[in-house]
Amino acid sequence: MTEIIRTVADLRAKVRGWKAAGESIGVVPTMGALHEGHLSLARAARVECDRVIVTIFVNPKQFNNPEDLLKYPRTEEADAVLLATVPVDAIFAPSPEEVYPEGFGSVVSVSGVSEPLEGKMRPGHFDGVSTVVTKLFGMTLADRGYFGQKDWQQLQVVLKLVRDLNLPVTIVGCETIREADGLAMSSRNVRLTAEGRAKAPVFYAAITAAATDIRAGLPDRMAIREAAEAMRGAGFDRVEYIELRDAETLIPSDDPTRPRRMLAAAWLDGVRLIDNIPV
Ligand code: PAJ
Repeated sequence: MTEIIRTVADLRAKVRGWKAAGESIGVVPTMGALHEGHLSLARAARVECDRVIVTIFVNPKQFNNPEDLLKYPRTEEADAVLLATVPVDAIFAPSPEEVYPEGFGSVVSVSGVSEPLEGKMRPGHFDGVSTVVTKLFGMTLADRGYFGQKDWQQLQVVLKLVRDLNLPVTIVGCETIREADGLAMSSRNVRLTAEGRAKAPVFYAAITAAATDIRAGLPDRMAIREAAEAMRGAGFDRVEYIELRDAETLIPSDDPTRPRRMLAAAWLDGVRLIDNIPV
């Protein structure tokens, strides 16, 4: 089984050995409850790097809802079994006290791209993400960091933070892994009831149809309204947003000559789902 490292000192000792041998290091930051989406990132790192570290840390600073933090699934043993199939060189699973010791008092805050959409719905969320990701890069001394396009806004925030702070790490954005019916894999999907799970594929189908219609010339607003109606019609409780944005800055965009992204969040069965696709 893959070794699970708990302290920054132990991690650094291991990493120093690898660095001294001239080996490249890839890091895959996760919060555990691993599924094929996470494993695809680890496999991408496995192909491109000499050493692969997967971090498992349910980061309290990025949860704006304490209940959500408590409810977050913790499945470390099963995660380790899955990671052994990749395989990876180390699992770094520190305690909250190891990451945020007494007296910790710094925040990494990325302006602009972190503000709309998820940033607006979940105040403080991206400060928590940016802070922990910066720390994980510092702890692992990784050359490459792997992130999923599933969390498109998070990926853009991380790209900007690395650029802004001149961090010596190359960010790799990996494609969203989906269930056979199109639902983006997420650790939240297990919270859906059987009925909710049956309705969930309408999310991806609706935004895909909207993107196709927009490319075919249907006005953006009309296509988006139809997608929201299809989702509500299928039994989604609430469509929080469906937005067409510049893919990099996430500023609202009606310029089809620039790469654009459709991003959406909706509630089904009391579970908040997000997804996004290129337009
Ligand atoms: P978590 O939700 O565990 O996701 C870890 C990584 O897996 C993220 O980069 C996410 O985009 C990616 N991922 C999740 N589902 C995916 C899917 N279906 N296909 C491809 N990639 C997928 O995102 C976080 O954790 C945290 O915010 C973190 C970056 C670890 C900071 O705490």
